[in-house]
Amino acid sequence: MAQLEQDPHPLLARLRATEPVSWLDALGGWIVTRYDLAATVMRDPITFTVDDPRFSTSQVLGPSMLSLDGAAHDRHRKPFTHQFRPAQVRERFVAFIGTETDRLISAIRPAGKAELRRQFAGPLAVAVATEALGLCDISADAVLAWYASIVAAVSEVTRGRPVPTAGTQAFGQLRDALVHNIAHGDVSSLVAHAMRAPEGLRHDEVVSNAAVLLFGGIDTTEGMILNAIRHLLVFGDRDTLAAVRDDADLRSNAIEESIRLEPAAAAVDRYATRPVELGGARIQRGDLVTVSIAGANRDPAVFNDPDRYEISRANAASNLAFAQGPHACLGAHLARAQTTIAIGRLLDRLAGLRLNPDHPHSPRGLVFRKPPNLHVLWSP
Ligand code: HEM
Repeated sequence: MAQLEQDPHPLLARLRATEPVSWLDALGGWIVTRYDLAATVMRDPITFTVDDPRFSTSQVLGPSMLSLDGAAHDRHRKPFTHQFRPAQVRERFVAFIGTETDRLISAIRPAGKAELRRQFAGPLAVAVATEALGLCDISADAVLAWYASIVAAVSEVTRGRPVPTAGTQAFGQLRDALVHNIAHGDVSSLVAHAMRAPEGLRHDEVVSNAAVLLFGGIDTTEGMILNAIRHLLVFGDRDTLAAVRDDADLRSNAIEESIRLEPAAAAVDRYATRPVELGGARIQRGDLVTVSIAGANRDPAVFNDPDRYEISRANAASNLAFAQGPHACLGAHLARAQTTIAIGRLLDRLAGLRLNPDHPHSPRGLVFRKPPNLHVLWSP
């Protein structure tokens, strides 16, 4: 388990080569590490479902698009899809992301050094998530405190313990704020929009899905931004960084290559609904099947020399970081927009941006992989 948290890639490569669907006692389930098999599992919700009572997020937040399949999943997801299309993301979020990014950079710029997780990527991801949900009158600290309690509650439930009171209270406060927003808030917010959709979700259902949006959009986007900056600063020379700053296409390819190499959400879980053979393994009904996105993204059958960070890799965008099939990430365009703007502005405004050699920066984490801290320097 410790190896999976620190540097899972050598183990994942060994498994992929010898036993691409293998039983791991530490997980209590199967792990799928080959690209084609990972895609097969994610694209077949009839055989590999998320809809299982063991799914810990739904025990804390209630049923939502993340925990349902089939027609019920469509009903929960559809009211939110329009708002996350590329055109809507451009229209509704790009200016906000630019302003917020500039504000955060202006605050750190005079110091010539910063820790980018707590001073930049985290606050940016929280600001965009709260803006999306129309929770702008709630402080970022309050949202982060709810978030931390909900994450802690999901971890407790994953360990087989009951939902802690702090988790129930935090979800209750988030629910009250969202219900207030539905009644009085900005009519253009995602939540207000979803309430008006023809699928007719009830208040509590909109609230559970809104919590999933918040839950799914903070840690992941923070990680995506941090990993992207880190890859550029570790592997890019001065000329490369200037090219990434000035060329939007190269920048977006560099970001795809970063989420290929270190996907911010490294694994997703499914449960087998019937006995099935996959990659030589005999999976039983009810077995946990964990898709290792991190493993699939380094499959040499798809990505040449897969452990290398290649900024111009032609098929970098074929990575599975945002999943595939019915649960493919709803926020992918929004997360990409945040990361593209964040990287462009950081390179533009912080001349000589580089890693601070006094601090470690390797990514950590089993599911949400990112550097716990990212200390950088520049010329103020
Ligand atoms: C703006 C930020 C984001 C938002 C609002 C968001 C929202 C969501 C939502 C609502 C889902 C569930 C979709 C469904 O079940 O039908 C989802 C799934 C997913 N998201 Fe995101 N997400 C964001 C950022 C990210 C990032 C940065 C990553 C990774 C790089 C990511 C990776 C995933 C993955 C792997 C899934 C699939 C989960 C599964 O299949 O079990 N998301 N996202």
